[in-house]
Amino acid sequence: MYNFQFYNPTRLVFGKGSINELPKLIPADTKVLILYGGQSAERNGTLAEVRAALSDYALFEFNGIQANPDYDQLMPAVALIKQQNIGFLLAVGGGSVIDGTKFVAAAACYQGEPWEILETYGKHINAALPVGVVQTFPATSSENNNGSVISRYSIQAKRSFRNPQVFPQFAILDPEKSYSLPATQLANGVVDAFIHVCEQYLTFPVNAAVQDRFAESLLITLKDTGPQALANPHDYDIRANLMLATTLCHNGLICSGVPQDWATHKIGHELTAIFGLDHAVTLAIVLPTLLQMFRDAKRDKLLQYAERVWQLCDGNDDDKIAAAISKTREFFEQMGLRTWLRDYDINANDLQPVLDNLARSGMTQLGEHKNITLEMSQTILEHSI
Ligand code: NZQ
Ligand code: ZN
Repeated sequence: MYNFQFYNPTRLVFGKGSINELPKLIPADTKVLILYGGQSAERNGTLAEVRAALSDYALFEFNGIQANPDYDQLMPAVALIKQQNIGFLLAVGGGSVIDGTKFVAAAACYQGEPWEILETYGKHINAALPVGVVQTFPATSSENNNGSVISRYSIQAKRSFRNPQVFPQFAILDPEKSYSLPATQLANGVVDAFIHVCEQYLTFPVNAAVQDRFAESLLITLKDTGPQALANPHDYDIRANLMLATTLCHNGLICSGVPQDWATHKIGHELTAIFGLDHAVTLAIVLPTLLQMFRDAKRDKLLQYAERVWQLCDGNDDDKIAAAISKTREFFEQMGLRTWLRDYDINANDLQPVLDNLARSGMTQLGEHKNITLEMSQTILEHSI
């Protein structure tokens, strides 16, 4: 196991009715800005509960944060915060709203042009406004991590940043608030979370028994509860297990002390930037091909994954690995995601802008061995058609 430091200060407030805890979590006499997306949080009653719980606070609202949040669309929130001297930001929504809120929290305190935050991956953030979260979409773990992914549509860019200053102070996780998710989004969330674990687990062994077993329990929980949640959208226990699993998939714990990949995400982000595909869809396309291409380098962990997650015990090691990769793709398709670029009318002639973007953002040495060059990314994409 590698040396590591684990730090995660986000308080998780889990369960039915937990929005009522808000006044205990936000200091009194603070001006609060509620940030949200389209109409989903209004329609399913989450915002009404939030406004009621915070009725003693001076409340401001910023709405319309879109999926894959846009830098230019977020900047008016920064202006509003400065103008009104806002002291606390409350994100009500999914990963996009949470990521957008983290960016705004850092941008409001940043000296200089805020796009620099993305260009420098968050390295120069020295302060940020406090952020809290009411999560409505189990997927990204953004509610308890220090990362954020921001797009800038005017230049077809999708970049991420990371900094301890943007850890949310708390995350309210009420499984009932996610009941209104359409099946396609629910499926996206399950697949995104599953692939978060793969990025931290399907690398090479470093004798990290706890991290491995924890990762396997998350993968098994997702592969079991994902289809159950699709079939029973209002079952509390299923949704509660799903929500807890997605929250723990990418919160800094299972990546502690082990190698990490993340090439699927880096390539996937550029597919979203160029073609507008949903985040999880891009991952479901790239991961199975990447595993196939790097099955030798990832051999030991793929075998462990086959045996422990998919209970594949028959045949020789190569058979088990092949079956595990097939089962992974089948699982994504069972959830309703299509896993080939051709399913989205994308062919080899369309790929150059994706590669240009990877080059422009310096994504030319990806993967746990830093050996996924631009040429390799091209091959992965070509084999995903
Ligand atoms: O805009 P509204 O009306 O809220 O609708 C949203 C949105 O259209 C809807 N939705 C959310 N909660 C709902 C709901 N609809 C009905 N009922 C509910 N309870 O779902 C749609 C998608 O929401 P979004 O927030 O975009 O989804 P997700 O949570 O998957 O977030 C995706 C974003 O997170 C980034 C992705 O790149 C993408 O931009 N990621 C962030 C990460 C992080 N910060 O650590 C890691 C991830 O790998 C990922 O890259
Ligand atoms: Zn993701």
